[in-house]
Amino acid sequence: MPHNADPPTAACSDGAADDVYAELERQRRRNADLERTIVQMTRSVRDLEAFSWEISHDLKAPLMGISGYAQLLAHLDVGWPRPAEFDEFIAEITQGADRMARLVDDVLAYSTVRGAPLRMTTIDLGALVDDVVADRAAEAALLSGQPTPHITRDALPAVHGDHGMLRRLFENLLGNALKYVRPGETARVHVSAQADNDGAVRIEVTDAGVGIPEGQHEAIFGELHRAHPDAYEGTGLGLAICRRIAQRLGGSIGADPRFRGGARVWFTLAAAPADDGSAGAGTVPVAAEVAA
Ligand SMILES: Nc1ncnc2c1ncn2[C@@H]1O[C@H](COP(=O)(O)OP(=O)(O)OP(=O)(O)O)[C@@H](O)[C@H]1O
Ligand SMILES: [Mg+2]
Repeated sequence: MPHNADPPTAACSDGAADDVYAELERQRRRNADLERTIVQMTRSVRDLEAFSWEISHDLKAPLMGISGYAQLLAHLDVGWPRPAEFDEFIAEITQGADRMARLVDDVLAYSTVRGAPLRMTTIDLGALVDDVVADRAAEAALLSGQPTPHITRDALPAVHGDHGMLRRLFENLLGNALKYVRPGETARVHVSAQADNDGAVRIEVTDAGVGIPEGQHEAIFGELHRAHPDAYEGTGLGLAICRRIAQRLGGSIGADPRFRGGARVWFTLAAAPADDGSAGAGTVPVAAEVAA
């Protein structure tokens, strides 16, 4: 009987090797294509960001012109009695220009936070929060005519971050916590922090306001997504900016879907190195009254 086992086996293994090489080559080409696509898309995103920065920057001057002329009109001597609806129209122009200015500022912030240079230092979070609260609480009560907010915080740890970015992050989160309350109700906000074993700190901003509607706890971090569009003013970019900031500082951010009785938004940051003489990452579970 002829011995015919070897040649077919060799042919088989040659064929299998060819198949493997061909598949490897296809994968190599696919990877190269993907890498090219990523480079192109990154470039397009950067171009779009630069474009939106330039447009929003250029919009500021004509907007200021509109607001300025509206103010001049308000003081214009148009005889007595003043024409019906004259002041009402001026108020509409001013409000529209203010809304647009806020949107332009948010688009500018959104397009710059990703590329702006970071100045990483040790930051005393407690002092930073007190500073933002002092600005925001008084302003919020004054503007909305709502009762004076009640804001408390734990003793907060020192963290490693960029002061300007963290300030903007807290301004947005505290601004939301103060804004999304039922009319006439006192805003109640608490800022707390927990250190974990990996050298990270988790900060939570908890409020007792209207809460985030079911199923929208992730969507609210998307651009221009507003979960209460008609009831409250806003551009829907605040949390998208916060997400970019948290990511740039090496952390993450989210809203707790299990929290009831208001909203709880958290983010993580790297704790300050232990030997920098700061308060460290531990927290004291005693709330300190910030504003009554
Ligand atoms: N603390 C909160 N309580 C309830 N809803 C919230 C809270 N924070 C955010 N949201 C919801 O998430 C949406 C997105 O928030 P985001 O801060 O991005 O936008 P905004 O507040 O509408 O406008 P702005 O850009 O002026 O901040 C809000 O429109 C609101 O519906
Ligand atoms: Mg907001």
